[in-house]
Amino acid sequence: MNDNIATVAYIGATILFIMSLGGLSNPETSRRGNVYGMVGMGIAVLATVFNPSHVTTLGIVFILIALLIGGGLGIYASRKVQMTQMPELVALMHSMVGLAACIVGFASYIDTSPIAAAGTSAADLSAIEAVHEVEIFLGILIGAVTFSGSVIAFGKLSGKIGGKPLLLPGRHWLNLAGLLLVVLFGYLFVGHHAATFSLLLMTLIALAFGVHMVMAIGGADMPVVVSMLNSYSGWAAAATGFMLNNDLMIVTGALVGSSGAILSYIMCRAMNRNFLSVIAGGFGGGAPAATGAAAAAPEGEVTPISATETAELLREAKEVIIVPGYGMAVAQAQHTVYEITKLLREKGVNVRFGIHPVAGRMPGHMNVLLAEAKVPYDIVMEMDEINDDFPKTDVAMVIGANDIVNPAAEDDPTSPIAGMPVLQVWKAKTSIVMKRSMASGYAGVDNPLFYKENNRMLFGDAKKMLDEVLTALKAG
Ligand code: TAP
Repeated sequence: MNDNIATVAYIGATILFIMSLGGLSNPETSRRGNVYGMVGMGIAVLATVFNPSHVTTLGIVFILIALLIGGGLGIYASRKVQMTQMPELVALMHSMVGLAACIVGFASYIDTSPIAAAGTSAADLSAIEAVHEVEIFLGILIGAVTFSGSVIAFGKLSGKIGGKPLLLPGRHWLNLAGLLLVVLFGYLFVGHHAATFSLLLMTLIALAFGVHMVMAIGGADMPVVVSMLNSYSGWAAAATGFMLNNDLMIVTGALVGSSGAILSYIMCRAMNRNFLSVIAGGFGGGAPAATGAAAAAPEGEVTPISATETAELLREAKEVIIVPGYGMAVAQAQHTVYEITKLLREKGVNVRFGIHPVAGRMPGHMNVLLAEAKVPYDIVMEMDEINDDFPKTDVAMVIGANDIVNPAAEDDPTSPIAGMPVLQVWKAKTSIVMKRSMASGYAGVDNPLFYKENNRMLFGDAKKMLDEVLTALKAG
């Protein structure tokens, strides 16, 4: 394969990546989008690995071994991972991109092979060298922040690290001091002596900054962090592309980086947050109840309901809105949810779904689950499309959701989730919340919805309770 064929393959892969992003923007075309992305990546890898002007035969052998190990691990991890562990896996993968950028950065620094053609003038050579050093410095900087930040995000999403923000005294000053030191080391590194020393110290500061940045972010703001690290991993890949002189990697990294940035903006809007204040940290405090252990302080009486009574309410309803959350993913209840939906719709009940942008633990989490259960897309509505319809709804059925239906976000300005738009299920004639206990959600915030007069609590595992509701509906 010569360079021309590789260039054509790269252009083809770039087009496929753009088509992939286009496809992924809509649930109906997302499968196709995924296929475009996979084919594009396949072409990109083949065109890079089998380009003799880039890689020697021995190099190909090493790459094939690496492909076998990496691909094998990837297949094993994706087959073994539970749907509920997907966000952690994604965070772990982002950390790998960051680590790869760091390793490539150090390898490029150590590599002594000439970076310009023989005969280049001394002035040109020093300019080329300076640009190369900037690429290395920025690549390692972004890579290290992405790596350590993603490892902490993995810990927080898997519940191994608490969600309570770590607010060090003078943390903004610490960040500022870190930034100034990074600029100083950048100055010392590019075209000056003390290069190795500056690079190593900058790497340590970047690693510490990544840890500090994510540790300072509270549970409720994790969606912004997930999408932000997604964006960083793209910029880390683009920086790697600059170091390796690989145009496709620069383009692909920029696509991931900018789409992640747009996603961060969407997540900030969904949480009604300012991006900079999220990054500065400290919002969304409280301990996450990822294990379901932290109980909310009692605030009054709750009214329990049985599965049979729930079935009766549903049977008599004309308008039903189902609000799924993280608990539906844990219980894997989506298939039973759809069975119930089909049955009710056959009986003439208008059943629709209301999806909050940060429901679950990753962007689009609920849409993926409902699509897996084959729920038609036209009855799955976004929060903004459906929120005004609750007052004319007979039953709002909340399945394993908590923070996204918490009225405190609207009523209590002191709440850590104050200002976050929520699905106003309490405005329905009756709301039914399905969960196992009175525990709080990921943000660790008490939920006054449970104590409202028109609210009923159906306690138990969502799948088990929904199976009972389905049986009662079929019997009735
Ligand atoms: P949560 O507020 O976390 O509430 C989920 C509820 O599901 C829990 O209160 C839990 O109560 C219940 N549950 C767990 N397992 C269950 C089971 N087997 N059966 C029935 N119920 C079960 O979820 P949400 O309402 O979807 O809100 C999402 C939260 O996660 C937000 O705070 C959001 O900021 C955060 N977050 C989101 C993302 C993205 S990108 N979506 C990323 C990171 C964090 P019990 O223990 O009592 O059953």
